[in-house]
Amino acid sequence: MSNKLIAPSLLAADFANLQRDIELINDSEADWFHIDIMDGVFVPNISYGMPVLKAMTKHTKKFVDVHLMIVDPDRYIKEFADLGANMLTVHYEACTHLHRSLQSIKQHGMQAGVALNPHTSVELLRDTINDIDMVCLMSVNPGFGGQHFIERSFDKVKQLKALIKEENASTKIEVDGGVTDKNAKKLVDMGADVLVAGSYIFKAENPKQTISDLKKLINK
Ligand code: DX5
Ligand code: ZN
Repeated sequence: MSNKLIAPSLLAADFANLQRDIELINDSEADWFHIDIMDGVFVPNISYGMPVLKAMTKHTKKFVDVHLMIVDPDRYIKEFADLGANMLTVHYEACTHLHRSLQSIKQHGMQAGVALNPHTSVELLRDTINDIDMVCLMSVNPGFGGQHFIERSFDKVKQLKALIKEENASTKIEVDGGVTDKNAKKLVDMGADVLVAGSYIFKAENPKQTISDLKKLINK
């Protein structure tokens, strides 16, 4: 049986009640924590940095998936490992030496992810796909939660799935941005393994139930 995963994005949590929202995810059927780090340079927004991440990972009881939207991420790989990241995802567009960054992430004991902006072709990952544990396809322009899903992303999931197969890789596909019950099932049917959801979960009346329903929907 396939196990498609849900990774709630803490960007949509209530920052004044972070511990409460982290416990909510700990107690839910969610699989991972998705944590977005933004530097105000790579993306036009600043989220939170090391001290907040440190406070978060003191409470997280599930796999920690850190999505770096920062320039020159190599500078901080060791720090993210020390703070408890299990998966560290860097942006293709932010890495001059992507292969070296991936090796460094793995040497620090983490899984290595690569995120692609909506305008970046999946074909550009052909030469590194066997070194990548997960590709995060951005289905919105990174920087903000609560945006609309870009429809073209369905095709990108399909193309990436084919590329992974052609190259005999075992890379996971994550989709991030604008995920709801309206697109989730189609995304996994096309090959997605992990769905990130921020506002859809945290703005719901009952986030725990919403996670449970979404999990059921994508594993049908
Ligand atoms: C956007 C972030 C996403 C964001 C998703 O730059 O990478 O992880 O939190 O939020 P929603 O699900 O609200 O689009
Ligand atoms: Zn993200």
